[in-house]
Order: sequence, then structure tokens, then C-alpha cells
Amino acid sequence: MTNTTTNRTRFEGDLSAPDPIPAEGIEAATRLMQDGRLFRYGEDRGSIPEAAMLEEEFAAYMDMKYCVGLNSGGCALYIALKASGLETGDKVLLNAFTLAPVPGAIDHAGGDAVLVDIDDRFVIDIDDLDRKATASGAKFLMLSYMRGHIPDMDRLMAVCEKHNLIVIEDCAHTMGAGWDGRLTGTFGDVACFSTQTFKHVNSGEGGLLVTNNEDIAARAVLRSGSYMLYAQHRARPDMEVFEKYRASTPNCSMRMSGLVASILRPQLTELDERNRKWRHMYDVLAPMIDTIDHLSMPIRPAKEGFVPSSLQFMISGIDDARTSRFLSEAAAHGVHIKWFGAEVPIGFTSRHDHWAYLNGMGDVPNADAVLHGLCDIRLPLWLSDEDCAVIAAVLREAMTASAEAA
Ligand SMILES: Cc1ncc(COP(=O)(O)O)c(C=O)c1O
Repeated sequence: MTNTTTNRTRFEGDLSAPDPIPAEGIEAATRLMQDGRLFRYGEDRGSIPEAAMLEEEFAAYMDMKYCVGLNSGGCALYIALKASGLETGDKVLLNAFTLAPVPGAIDHAGGDAVLVDIDDRFVIDIDDLDRKATASGAKFLMLSYMRGHIPDMDRLMAVCEKHNLIVIEDCAHTMGAGWDGRLTGTFGDVACFSTQTFKHVNSGEGGLLVTNNEDIAARAVLRSGSYMLYAQHRARPDMEVFEKYRASTPNCSMRMSGLVASILRPQLTELDERNRKWRHMYDVLAPMIDTIDHLSMPIRPAKEGFVPSSLQFMISGIDDARTSRFLSEAAAHGVHIKWFGAEVPIGFTSRHDHWAYLNGMGDVPNADAVLHGLCDIRLPLWLSDEDCAVIAAVLREAMTASAEAA
């Protein structure tokens, strides 16, 4: 999508446009609306509710025993913390590069976030994790695979074992991604996924929690708001496990609705194909960006099976004023870039120092340096190879123009 009527390249697509729901999902949702059974639990035992089927299918995809559908990824993180035994005032280690709902979930659960630094690949700094785990005495790690970047999981899990950390994986950006052939979401004690519109599958709002731990699973189902209907779950522990927690676990009404599940089920069958497409786009666009002055791509280790629904690059060697000009030149020519270094948070893009309610310990100097230069572009599924070339041309010309305007 390009317009060459001026001497500057312009991208005519809308990078913020979501990907549509597949026809099968629209039909399933329509059938459900005609039927009216939108609530996840049915009184009629004759048919299996959509949410229970989605949970069973997602558990099978992940090769995990238990799965719980929830109303958002943020609620999944909150429930994962509570179901893992977090109590008010407990410390939770958290990599400093993440999105606002993640520290939000820690706060919601009553935890105190302890920020851990990141390295130049935008992932948790494992040495700093080791140090901060010792210094803080924290028993929980919220590991956020922000923007799909995956740390060296062998080294990371060794440090987690050393400190006996309960690991909650935030897989909002890594559905179907892996490390050395093993899916993210299967390394820790419990993992959470988001199905918000800009994630790998889209239901507007939605979350999924997976675990192999029967106690965490039962507590998550109960807290999600299962009333006494939890027998209707299919990817759940045996009924006697629920007896242990039934009276002591509050119902927080964070259930996934049948409507959301009906939209998601057909998308799950497309997930691997979508991820192949995203990987292809990245492989086309990333090398082009890497050749533009002052822009660089992070190194991606061979073991990292990433599934990039967005792309991040670094800006270096120019001042903030020129960065701002580069961003506005690119935007004026159709490419909207998010910048994590902006003083004031814009749209989704806020930074740890914007979350003033965090009072946990944690100096994160490298995160501060990296985020100052970090930029982000969404990769919608419809992007073609030609689109990628146009985007790269817009960025190249915007960088040149930003110098000329100085
Ligand atoms: C890294 C990360 N974790 C968790 C979430 C929470 O997901 P949700 O929006 O479904 O609450 C998001 C949402 O954008 C996210 O970006």
C-alpha cells in the first residue's frame, strides 16, 4: 500500500486496524446469540458450554492439564497470583519492561512489585534477578515476555529454582512462542494469556490461565467466579481438590463469557499459521530497518521461537528533539511508531517510572537507558512484503528528513 504522487513515500494502510474475526467465529457467536446462552455455565447439561470447550482445547494446545477462561489477561495475572498463594504485602519480582496491566495486577492482588532490570535484548536481566531475589527475599516472579522477547529460559529457570521462586509467566505477547522448542507458558507454575484485540487471538477482551498444579487450578476456577458450577469445567482438577478451597476462596466474578469463547475457538485453530505469517513479516522488515541510520534491531538467539505481532527497534545517536521529528515525519507519512522514551505516556505505551504507585525497591539503570531509545510498530496480519518495503522506505526518509529539519 503506497502513494508515490509526492516525492516522499507514504504508507496508506492503517497499522492500528485490528484483524477481523474469522467467518466461523462470527457464525458461532451468532448461533450463541440466537440461543441466548452467553453465560459460561449452562443449566442444560445436554450441550457442552463454549468456554469449557475452549479451555479444553487451549489446554491441549499447550499440553497442560488445566485451563481457566477469564475476562482479561490482567485478571488472569491477578488470579494467578492469588491462586499461587500471594498475600498482602508479599514482594513480586517483575522485569521493568512490561505494560501497565502487569504491575496493575500485582497491586490488585496486594503485592509489592520489585523491579528487575532488563538487558539489551529487552528481556529480564538474569543476574539482576539473582541479586534482587536475594536482596528482597521475594518468593514470586512475574515474568513478562513483553513484546514477545524471551530470555534464556535455561539460565532463568536455574536462578528461579535456586531462590525457590513461584513463577507466573505473562504470555500476553507469546501465545504459541517458545524457547528451544518448548512453549512459553509451560516453564513456570502458572501462565496467563490475553485475548484482547491486539493479541495473537482477538475477542476484544479475554484471558486464559494454564497450569499443571491442581491447587492453583482449583483456586483459580473458584476465584474466577464459578459459583457451585465448577463441575462444568473440563480442563479442571478432580472435584475433591475443590473441596479444599471452596469455602476459603472468594468469588471474584472474572469469568470468560460464552460469547468470547465462541469467537476464540476458531482462531485457536489458526494460531500456528498466524504465527508463521508474523514471523515472515518480521524476517522481511527487520533487516530493512537494521540498515537505516540510527536504527537497530535486537539480536534474537536461535533458541528463541518468537511470534512477533509487533516489532521493536532502537534509536541511538540522535537527541530527543530529532527523535521526535523522526517520529512525526514517519507519522505524517502513514507509519505510526510508539516510543517508550516519551516523557509523557501516550496510548498504550507507558513505562515503569510512570507508575507512581509502585513503591518497591529496584534500580533499573539499563531499562532506563534501553527504554529511552525503544520504538514499537504493530504488525497487523494483513501486512504484505510490499507493505514492509514501503514502511522501511518511510522510516528511512523520515530519518533523513529529521536531520534536514534541524
Ligand atoms: C505484556 C502484557 N501483559 C498483560 C496484559 C494484560 O492483558 P489485558 O489487556 O487482556 O488485560 C497486556 C495487555 O496489553 C500486556 O501487554
